[in-house]
Amino acid sequence: MPRVALVTGGTRGIGAAICKALKAAGYTVAANYGGNDEAAQKFKAETGINVYKWDVSSFEACAAGVKQVEADLGPIDVLVNNAGITRDAQLHRMKLEQWTAVINTNLGSLFNMCRNVIEGMRERKFGRIVNISSINGQKGQFGQVNYSASKAGEVGFTKALAQEGARVGITVNAICPGYIATDMVKAMSQEVLQKNVLPQIPIGRLGEPEEIARCVVFLASDDAGLITGSTLTANGGQYFA
Ligand code: CAA
Ligand code: NAP
Repeated sequence: MPRVALVTGGTRGIGAAICKALKAAGYTVAANYGGNDEAAQKFKAETGINVYKWDVSSFEACAAGVKQVEADLGPIDVLVNNAGITRDAQLHRMKLEQWTAVINTNLGSLFNMCRNVIEGMRERKFGRIVNISSINGQKGQFGQVNYSASKAGEVGFTKALAQEGARVGITVNAICPGYIATDMVKAMSQEVLQKNVLPQIPIGRLGEPEEIARCVVFLASDDAGLITGSTLTANGGQYFA
């Protein structure tokens, strides 16, 4: 039986590339998304991958979503926590809603999703969890106290859960991408991107979503059974954690 993989935020950007790469590697894949029905339907038509709409910042929605995916496809073997948002502003202008939205979506979702799959993984004595963190969780970023805190939190979560999962066949790893060519980067100030960000990337270009997807396929594989609690940095040399 092919293993079942669930990717949150799997219908656009990095998540869509992860879904496609996992499907190509033989997994049965489910893609979650939050609100963009048009993108999700386009993705489904192109890939044949099942799409599921729920808000990863809601514990109850994640519980219901996981239940639905498992009813449709079988127990979840691989969970990729990829869904994420930015709400950039300097702290002195940041509103409470910008803080809570980012923390609840990016970090709260790890509890909401992992809590709902972990018991099944423990019973079956197998699981692969990959959390998509960020270079900006490693180094901090002007204008992103909310996002940097959420992404650094993902790394701590990863290291703690890795210790709990190790003796029951569950690996938990984080990937820290640098700046990747997706809608998220298109949404930031292009002036800041050209002036402040691109000159700091030694390979001289943004990353491609497929380059992150290949890291996920490796960490999900049997070949990566020794690797748990690690942080895989993939940023074109911009920062060495
Ligand atoms: N370091 C130091 N100073 C900086 C700076 C930086 N990184 N960025 C901006 N500044 C300076 C500016 O040069 C400017 O200086 P002057 O007043 O002397 O001109 C001052 O700080 C104010 O800058 P802004 O005009 O940009 O400030 P703002 O309040 O209008 O905007 C902001 C703030 C929205 C955060 C904007 O600076 C911005 O978009 N920054 C980029 C944040 C970023 O990198 N986001 C990443 C999004 S993609 C992502 O997050 C994915 C991932 O994981 C990598
Ligand atoms: P993106 O293009 O903006 O796509 C984000 C995806 O997450 C979409 O599928 C979106 O669904 C989904 N999503 C957002 N909020 C959600 C919610 N509350 N519930 C369910 N799904 C939700 O982003 P991306 O650039 O591919 O980023 C993917 C991940 O990589 C994020 O965690 C991001 O922080 C991280 N990352 C990105 C970069 C980068 O440079 N792009 C670098 C480092 C790390 P809808 O389509 O419905 O909106």
